[in-house]
Amino acid sequence: MKKTLTIEALSFLVILFLASCNPKQQQSTVAGNNIDTLAFMQRGDSIATAMQEVLLQNVMQATKAGGPVYAVTFCNERAMPLTDSLSEKYNCRIQRISDKYRNPANKPNENDAAVLLKLSASNAAKPLFVSENGENIYYKPIKIAMAACLNCHGDEGKNIAPKTLEVIRQKYPNDLANGYKEGDFRGMWKITFREK
Ligand code: HEC
Repeated sequence: MKKTLTIEALSFLVILFLASCNPKQQQSTVAGNNIDTLAFMQRGDSIATAMQEVLLQNVMQATKAGGPVYAVTFCNERAMPLTDSLSEKYNCRIQRISDKYRNPANKPNENDAAVLLKLSASNAAKPLFVSENGENIYYKPIKIAMAACLNCHGDEGKNIAPKTLEVIRQKYPNDLANGYKEGDFRGMWKITFREK
């Protein structure tokens, strides 16, 4: 995917992709353990897309309503509950993981760190599915897909307004999630399925 694609265009492509294949005809299994990798990949993809849309819509609305300072407070209070409610809805655990995390709850564990390295190594990295120790996990790269992300994740003093920075520092004293440029690798979706 070209990094210039907007989120809308991306979702559209994902919908096109999902609409164009019939999961029943494309069951593929990992040798030996009967795991329907393709079905998990497709579910992971649609959950990540839905989640991304919800967060994006919310951050845009909050910014419109009260500017970036209000939007930071909004993300601080709402990003996790929104993620948890979609986890509930889709019967899985949805997380956003980043090596440069803002919320320490999004810090990678040892396995995540290895996947992060892999996904960040290539700008054209594709989603990954890992089935290990009885856990089925889908990972998808997150990019700084639009200039608007820089309002809160770009360079201090250049992209992040002083008032916004102030509230970010206050809510996240150990923040690592700034200094990004448009198109940069930002982290990944991690979707842990409940069914085996
Ligand atoms: C209004 C400010 C704001 C904007 C705009 C914004 N973010 Fe964030 N972002 C935050 C805050 C605050 C958090 C921490 C949320 C929490 O506490 O769970 C965060 C967390 C994240 C995380 C989770 C990992 C971590 O560092 O904790 C990712 C990934 C992320 N943002 C990506 C993006 C992308 C991509 C965009 C653009 C589409 C974007 N953000 C736009 C404020 C913002």
